[in-house]
Amino acid sequence: MRKGRFNKPMAEVAQHYSASVSFDWRLYPHDIAGSIAHATALATAGVISADERNKIDNGLRAIQSDIENGKFQWDESLEDVHMNIEAALTKRIGAAGGKLHTARSRNDQVALDLRLYVKAEIMEICARLRSLQTALLNLAEQHVDVVMPGYTHLQRAQPIFFSHYLLAQIEAFERDVERLRDCRIRTDVLPLGAGALAGSTIVLDRQSIARQLGFSRVSQNSLDAVGDRDFACEFLFCLAIVGMHLSRLSEDLITWSTSEFGFIEFSDAFSGGSSLMPQKKNPDMAELTRGKTGRLYGNLMSILTTLKALRSSYNRDMQEDKEALLDSVDTVRAALEVFSAMLPEIKIHRDRMEAAAGDPNLLATDLAEYLVKKGAPFREAHEIVGKLVSHAAEANLPLNQVPRQEFKKLSPLFDADVANVFDVRRSLASRCAIGAPSSENVEAQIEHWRGQLMGGRPRSPSASKN
Ligand code: ARG
Repeated sequence: MRKGRFNKPMAEVAQHYSASVSFDWRLYPHDIAGSIAHATALATAGVISADERNKIDNGLRAIQSDIENGKFQWDESLEDVHMNIEAALTKRIGAAGGKLHTARSRNDQVALDLRLYVKAEIMEICARLRSLQTALLNLAEQHVDVVMPGYTHLQRAQPIFFSHYLLAQIEAFERDVERLRDCRIRTDVLPLGAGALAGSTIVLDRQSIARQLGFSRVSQNSLDAVGDRDFACEFLFCLAIVGMHLSRLSEDLITWSTSEFGFIEFSDAFSGGSSLMPQKKNPDMAELTRGKTGRLYGNLMSILTTLKALRSSYNRDMQEDKEALLDSVDTVRAALEVFSAMLPEIKIHRDRMEAAAGDPNLLATDLAEYLVKKGAPFREAHEIVGKLVSHAAEANLPLNQVPRQEFKKLSPLFDADVANVFDVRRSLASRCAIGAPSSENVEAQIEHWRGQLMGGRPRSPSASKN
């Protein structure tokens, strides 16, 4: 590449500074697939012969198997994955290798490789999100009727089923799948053919290259095609939100695993110990996942900042997109894998959850709604029950044990049937509007998700009730 224009080799320190092969080598399967498609188009256009095309094709496939068998020597002085593979090809097949880069630049080549990589990773990460949703669903099914307090502000609020909580997580991860699929639509555009920035005087059939590589669209502006990394930003945003969801789930589980709550217990196989305190069993996997969300956000900020104020088309700054992208993919893949393995082993302490859900204050809103059903305006009912709660706190009594005359004093609408209000399961049963946590709704949602996630196949043995 430097043979013509330059009189000196690149300084060693500059070479080391600018080389990207130490990380972009991971794009090799996409680089090779792209080159094979490009060679086919060159042959169709009559730029290379059928024999040359076959040599290129076979040479690239041999290089791919060398890489996969650990026999390929990556060379930093060749800068990046693209130059390494091209140089190895020419060494292997001779002159025909030197024709491969006709009508192509590394600018459209790297954009192509990245788009192919992101498309493949979207499929992989969606599959891992599906496994996590399945683990959450199995847990929901096993503990479908366990009652727990629902919290707002981490203060006891209203009763829910633990399964309702788990189904809420499935909803969030479903939005992640949807977002990734949507991101895939904008990633699914072929940039190859844009050249360095202005296409080429050698005209190739880009539609047919797109078909060969599985792209549904072809970029329509060469300048935009080499400068566009929106798809990478979007993808990193999708992964940052996956991290946020995992982090919030982690935080709930960490809180519930404390002695103070005692709602759940992590398996020994997914817990850390203390080098000093013999009794400790720490929720390390959840804490690390919460922590790793920081780097997912950082990677998104990094690419956005790199792209800010870049002049149009390609600038070398754009090489900085790759480490952020690769790191977020590795981080999210690993976190999803750990969570899918960890969740089935979590022990649920039903007694502790249900004892906490037995707090009659959780039904204070139900009490106000009781008065509403008897004709009181809600604001008035809210105040009456607020006074009752305050009275109970002062008298150091649970709300349901405040003497009936105190109820009567505050409102004549209270009758003997008020005792029914303090039945948690009755309360849950009446929460039956769409999306509310009645057991019928929860069971229907479990059925729905089973269908979505397993194509309606019968339940696996691990998903049976215990
Ligand atoms: N390694 C480069 C990157 O990742 C490839 C494109 C280099 N193009 C160039 N004109 N120097 O962006």
